[in-house]
Amino acid sequence: MSEVNLKELYHRAREVARNSYSPYSRFRVGAALLTSSGKIYVGTNVENASYGLTICAERVAISTAVAAGERKFEVMVIYCEGEKPVSPCGACRQFMAEFGNFEVYLICDGTQVIRTSVEALLPMGFGTKDLNT
Ligand code: THU
Repeated sequence: MSEVNLKELYHRAREVARNSYSPYSRFRVGAALLTSSGKIYVGTNVENASYGLTICAERVAISTAVAAGERKFEVMVIYCEGEKPVSPCGACRQFMAEFGNFEVYLICDGTQVIRTSVEALLPMGFGTKDLNT
């Protein structure tokens, strides 16, 4: 992961977080996903008055990429406002793992940057390999 790419992903994730629809939590999250083809897809969290329907930034970014025909991912940057990086929820970890292992950076407005991966975030996860189809 080149420095330039990481900076660009960070800027894109921060930029899309401004579009977050989060009137209930007031917690803005942005995700920027770099595909193996070199394109970047972004997503932000979209909440709902029926709280359980809320969709996280990560799943929006992945779904947008898939809708564009992309399934191979290299890096996802997850940005949230504030001083502490956010860690993706369990549903998002499972959703990410569907598309294999890729790098994940957790970044916020503070100085802390956490570099991890889908495999590290979801060890021993359930997947297609477990289906006898
Ligand atoms: N959220 C995300 O979009 N991504 C995460 O990694 C954690 C949580 C959203 C969901 C909800 O809109 C708000 O943050 C508070 O949970």
